Amino acid sequence: MIRLDNLTKRFTTREGTATAADHINMEVAAGEICILLGPSGCGKTTTLKMVNRIIPPSSGRVFLDGKDTTDYDTIALRRQIGYVIQQIGLFPNMTVGENIGVVPRLLGWDRQRIRRRTASLLEMVALDPAIFLDRYPKELSGGQQQRIGVARALAADPPVLLMDEPFGAIDPINRQVIQDEFLKMQEKLGKTILFVSHDIDEAVKMGDKIAIFREGRLQQFDTPNQVLAHPANDFVADFVGGDRTLKRLRLITVRQAMRPADRALLSAREMNRPGVSIGADDDLRLAVSRMLTHGLDALAVVVDDGACCGIITHQAIREALRTDDGPAAREARP
Ligand SMILES: Nc1ncnc2c1ncn2[C@@H]1O[C@H](COP(=O)(O)OP(=O)(O)OP(=O)(O)O)[C@@H](O)[C@H]1O
Ligand SMILES: [Mg+2]
Repeated sequence: MIRLDNLTKRFTTREGTATAADHINMEVAAGEICILLGPSGCGKTTTLKMVNRIIPPSSGRVFLDGKDTTDYDTIALRRQIGYVIQQIGLFPNMTVGENIGVVPRLLGWDRQRIRRRTASLLEMVALDPAIFLDRYPKELSGGQQQRIGVARALAADPPVLLMDEPFGAIDPINRQVIQDEFLKMQEKLGKTILFVSHDIDEAVKMGDKIAIFREGRLQQFDTPNQVLAHPANDFVADFVGGDRTLKRLRLITVRQAMRPADRALLSAREMNRPGVSIGADDDLRLAVSRMLTHGLDALAVVVDDGACCGIITHQAIREALRTDDGPAAREARP
C-alpha cells in the first residue's frame, strides 16, 4: 500500500518558488494500478520521484505498507520499488540482457537464473529473446528501448512499480498489445503500481484508480468510471473529453448489464443470425456498435460455447450507464 500525505514539492528557481506538487493526498491499495494523469508540467514526474525519494519532498510524507519512507534505508526502499523512467535510460554500453539483469546481478542471482528471467521478461514485452538479448540499446527503436526499460524494472520482482509514461514511445498498435500483456501479468502478480500517462484512454484501460493533476494540485482521485461519470470540475471534464459516455461503455461488460434471455423480445430469427450475438465478456461499446451495424435494438448474449445466456437491449445499456456507482468493472475482471 502507498499513501501520500500532504506531499508537497517546491522548487526554487530564478523567478522565485514554483510549487510542482501541492499537498497531494492519496492512497493506493496493494495490488492496484493508479494512473497519474494530466497535462505536461502538472507535477506527475515530481510526485512519482518523491515516492522513491529521488526527489526529497519539501513537506508531507510517503508511507509504504504503513511505514514512513524516511524510516527506510534508501537502498532497501529502492529495492522494493521498480522504476521505469520517462527518458528510458538504458545503459548504452550494456546489452539488452545485461540491462535487464542489473538488479538481479546486484542481488547475487546466478547466471542461469538471470538468463531465464531475462528471456521470460523479453517475451512479456513481446520481443524475441533470440533476436534481442545480445543487442545494444542503440540497435533498438525508441519503443523497443522503452519495453526493455519496463522489463528491467520488473526484473527482481519488486512489489511496487513506478512507471513514468512507460509506453509513450510505442506506436498505437504495439502499445495495445503491450498494455494487454501488462494487464495479464498484473492479474497474476498483483503489483502496486503508480503509472504516469498523458492519455485518458490509456488511463481508463489500465487504471483501477485515476489521479488527475493540474498545476501541482490533485483535481480528482477516483475510479475511471466515477471520473468519467462525475468529473469533479470543468478542468477534469475537459480533460477526459466530450465522449466520456462512450468511454464508460468500454468499462462495462455485457454480462454486467444484460437481462435474462427473453425469447419473446429476442425473436428466433435474431437469435440465430450468425455473428449477430455478443459475448458476455465483451464490453458495451462493442454491443452498441454491433446493434447500430445491424439495426437491432436487442442482441442475444452468448458464452464461450455459443449458448445464449441473456439479452442486451438499448434500455439495459442506458440503465447500466445511469447506475451511480457504476458497475465495478475491474472487480468483475476474471
Ligand atoms: N528540478 C526542477 N527545478 C525547477 N522546477 C522544476 C524542476 N523539476 C520540475 N520542475 C517544474 O515542476 C513542474 C512539474 O514538473 P514535472 O516534471 O513533475 O511535470 P510532468 O507532469 O511530469 O510533465 P510531463 O508530462 O511534461 O512529463 C514543471 O513546471 C517543471 O518545470
Ligand atoms: Mg513527466
